[in-house]
Amino acid sequence: MSYTREYFQAAADFLRAKVDFAPETGVVLGSCLGPFAQAIEHPVEVDYADIPHFLLSTVASHAGKLIFGTVAGRRVVCMSGRFHSYEGYRFEELVIPIRVLKLLGVRSVVLTNAAGAVNRDYRPGDVMVIRDHMKLNGPSPLRGPNVEDFGPWFFDVSRMYTPRLRRLALECAEGAALRVHEGTYMFFPGPQFETPAEIRAARLLGADAVGMSTVTEALTAAHCGLPLLALSVITNMAAGVLDQPLSDTEVDETARTIAGAFSDYMKKIIAVI
Ligand code: HPA
Repeated sequence: MSYTREYFQAAADFLRAKVDFAPETGVVLGSCLGPFAQAIEHPVEVDYADIPHFLLSTVASHAGKLIFGTVAGRRVVCMSGRFHSYEGYRFEELVIPIRVLKLLGVRSVVLTNAAGAVNRDYRPGDVMVIRDHMKLNGPSPLRGPNVEDFGPWFFDVSRMYTPRLRRLALECAEGAALRVHEGTYMFFPGPQFETPAEIRAARLLGADAVGMSTVTEALTAAHCGLPLLALSVITNMAAGVLDQPLSDTEVDETARTIAGAFSDYMKKIIAVI
């Protein structure tokens, strides 16, 4: 399948007709970080299933709807539920949501995720502002014929996690009830968690945290020139760091425990972005 601008425009036109609202910031919520959605005032929700050419969330902890509304006085559109390659989506399909947000007129994107800590100084419940990423697994979401309307085929990604937004996020951490670091996120395709050997390799390569999402959306945002901030909630120490198996229950429980503090931190960021 090769996409055209019209393909994404159909979804954006549908949403514009349904919700008379021009969002300034697009937010993507990771696993179990849904409580931020409850902080959205005057919410208008649209199910992914109703949006032409959109994808469907197949993961239980992802709600599967777009929520338009205000947070800290700023107009946001929030994806409550995201799409991953491990659900069976092709990498190329994963450009869809961010391109639709771009056509809705957002001027920046905030991506969030749950991640495992590779860096032994991190603890479950910490937050990492993503400074850079590694994606050595799987193709780029931008593979295939380029849609020039969004950006050039070959583009620079050396500052894709916008330095100004990273600085703001670190400033907002002062006084927040969270430990906030800045580090490198490494993408693994999942759905299985990594092996201890993979985590040792990730550490040697310079990764601070690992996860199964975010990078495809981040690359899509960078391609179309959207200022980008990405935050990882550390839900567990990565495989082999502790002498215990990993479970999605641990991930969900940590995410739930810090969801309130994380939501407050996000509100502070959205206010100044
Ligand atoms: N690995 C990959 N993805 C994750 C992890 C992890 O340890 N924790 C939360 N998402």
